[in-house]
Amino acid sequence: MSKHQTIFSCYKCGAQFPKWSGQCFECQAWGTIKEGEENAKKQESKKAKKLFNTENLIDINKVSNEHFDRLKIKMREIDTVFGGGIVKGSITLIGGEPGIGKSTLSLQLFKQLEGGEEALLYISGEESASQIKLRMDRLDYSAKNLKFLSETNVEQIQAAIETVKPKLAIIDSIQTIHSNQVESEPGNVAQIRACTVKLMEVAKQNNIPVIITGHVTKDGSVAGPKTLEHLVDTVLYLEGDKLHGYRILRSTKNRFGSTNEVGILEMTDKGLQEVEDPSKAFLDSSTQNTAGSVISCFAEGNRVFFCEVQALVSPTIFGYPQRKTAGYDLNRLQMISAVLLKRARLNLTNQDIHLNIVGGFKIKEPAIDLSVALAIYSALKDKPIPKNTVVIGELGLGGEIRSVFNLEKRINEAEKLGFAQVIIPDVKINKDYKIKITRIKEIGELMKV
Ligand code: TYD
Ligand code: MG
Repeated sequence: MSKHQTIFSCYKCGAQFPKWSGQCFECQAWGTIKEGEENAKKQESKKAKKLFNTENLIDINKVSNEHFDRLKIKMREIDTVFGGGIVKGSITLIGGEPGIGKSTLSLQLFKQLEGGEEALLYISGEESASQIKLRMDRLDYSAKNLKFLSETNVEQIQAAIETVKPKLAIIDSIQTIHSNQVESEPGNVAQIRACTVKLMEVAKQNNIPVIITGHVTKDGSVAGPKTLEHLVDTVLYLEGDKLHGYRILRSTKNRFGSTNEVGILEMTDKGLQEVEDPSKAFLDSSTQNTAGSVISCFAEGNRVFFCEVQALVSPTIFGYPQRKTAGYDLNRLQMISAVLLKRARLNLTNQDIHLNIVGGFKIKEPAIDLSVALAIYSALKDKPIPKNTVVIGELGLGGEIRSVFNLEKRINEAEKLGFAQVIIPDVKINKDYKIKITRIKEIGELMKV
């Protein structure tokens, strides 16, 4: 065997092969495989090993507690998600579907941070200066110290940040920028990673907070923001239904705070605004008691929100019965209808079921299972459920009702908002409540209640 072993790697996905080929076996891209010298890399890593210095080892007990310097946005919902403000020298990723409001949010952060000597730096690879100006007019934002740069080359962006030394730099979006050192188109994994690492370097070396925005597609799995979550300090996602006004700013990673925080904002014609009473945001007060509609509540981080679950049950006209959902997991709906069929003897075999969570919010929590079951029952029997009742509980396969976390907090909130009754799983509760509490053990009982 020869000493000089060469390896071939794909510059698109990074996969390595012992032989050259026209198409990458991993990502199926054509003409992306290039030759690289394995031995040279081995030599380099040997050299690096020798450079290690024992003086670099730090005794962790001697490190003093550092207080993080934070930039306050002065909007409660945003500051809490950041863990009390944006930490200087940190790098944050704001991800979200295209059109959800990332660029709007970026400009609003700048608007809130206006004032003082330091400049603000907005780098856009997507929009021109005049487009940004137009949006600023919508937001009533007349900037005094905002510098704009339309640039897609990360080396130039680095230089710009080092020259301007801004209070905050925002790069919109990571998918549009590229590095000269990586040979692939912008937006692909290798580029996104290389660019993020470069931006991280400037952020840390100059103690400047940097925010990058990133597009995520519907299923959230596309190579992009997901692949750089481990690199950045803070990951925030802006979520919501584009057709509805509410946006949820959620932190899924935060090196300087808790990830249990969510912020509720509303997209108005003047940008994103704070919502006065977030727990009621998803409730529609105008609707009357109609069959198939049930109030439930779900928790997001430390907060509790109320929502309306609507079901429509109608006889199947042709073929298999349909199950359709909006804002809820389809598999979960299928499971619940199976449990209703088997354990509560509800005849759903020739009925179509449509389920909708009002407000355009996607709920992943099992705590609304019971309300889904009740909504289906109510729709099937055409019996309205009073709007002053909140239904909470997880449904098991045996038809048993399981407890949910933060149950007392939910009851508390329901009482505060003036609901008359809560239907909950059969568990012990330590506190006395004014609100009427109905406990149920299994799904059959629910029908009687
Ligand atoms: P945008 O910030 O461009 O989304 P992203 O950067 O995530 O792709 O958001 C654009 C949407 O927000 C667009 O459909 C218009 C709407 N919008 C408002 O409703 N009100 C406003 O004040 C602004 C600026 C935008
Ligand atoms: Mg944008």
